[in-house]
Amino acid sequence: MKLGLEGKVAVVTGASKGIGAAIARELAGEGCSLALCARGEEDLSVLAGEIRSSSTVDVFSSPADVTDADQVIRFRDEVVTHFEKVDILINNAGRSYPGNFDTLTDEDFMNDYNVKSLSHIRVSRAFLPALRECDSGRIVNINSIHGHHADARFFTSSVNRAASIAFARTLALALAPEGICVNSVNIGYVLTPQWSNVHQRVRPDMEADEFFADMGSREVPMGRMGRPEEVAGIVTFLASERASYMTGASIDVGGGQ
Ligand SMILES: NC(=O)c1ccc[n+]([C@@H]2O[C@H](COP(=O)([O-])OP(=O)(O)OC[C@H]3O[C@@H](n4cnc5c(N)ncnc54)[C@H](OP(=O)(O)O)[C@@H]3O)[C@@H](O)[C@H]2O)c1
Repeated sequence: MKLGLEGKVAVVTGASKGIGAAIARELAGEGCSLALCARGEEDLSVLAGEIRSSSTVDVFSSPADVTDADQVIRFRDEVVTHFEKVDILINNAGRSYPGNFDTLTDEDFMNDYNVKSLSHIRVSRAFLPALRECDSGRIVNINSIHGHHADARFFTSSVNRAASIAFARTLALALAPEGICVNSVNIGYVLTPQWSNVHQRVRPDMEADEFFADMGSREVPMGRMGRPEEVAGIVTFLASERASYMTGASIDVGGGQ
């Protein structure tokens, strides 16, 4: 299947590790140039160098925190100056936020909302003028299955990802007349660096491989945790020309969860 991504420019937030890095690699493999951000510069530069050496696409990277409006605008300006256009925005940056209802404060909820939901709003707003100028703008927001399937062990995610999924759906309706497609991909348990915090918190006495295999077999209908590459394919499809009549969709990638 030809995805029609050659020559396009995609912005990927939170691109230095895990799912964001897998999405960046997959898009580059389809001939899509990349603008990558994360807070830490080192991992970002390593990934940008790896993609440059294994493909012919242009890769721009710059550290930026999606919870900081000034950094988002600065990143947007750098990207637009570098590429003079943006076709695709992947709102991926995020992290897990531990705590149960007895321990979480209002501030915790606000901080988590800032990372998981407001960042999608902020970054989408920043790149919308550029997306409006291209032929077929795409926004893909990485969310969580907990946004529609609450789990008290992932309390803030269950609350704030619900808002985030609603944002993607509402933005899709607002932008549909302009032909800009906005979709959500909701992740289940996908093995990335984010999960080492869970391992350390829950069962530091257990070997990591054993902990993740046990978790996958107990909690996921397919009996295992996912790999970042298993998310990157659907995200790349949604970013492509072949997804031209899909907007407002909310797609789970969770092994049946
Ligand atoms: N893995 C899962 O099972 C799972 C499940 C549900 C949802 N998700 C969501 O999927 C997305 C990717 O998760 P992942 O598992 O790949 O996580 P990860 O391995 O921890 O990677 C997160 C990426 O986001 C960046 N990042 C974090 N906070 C940021 C910020 N404020 N501004 C800019 N960049 C930031 C990180 O780099 P720096 O730390 O250097 O900034 C890193 O590149 C997240 O939104 C996550 O919540 C994942």
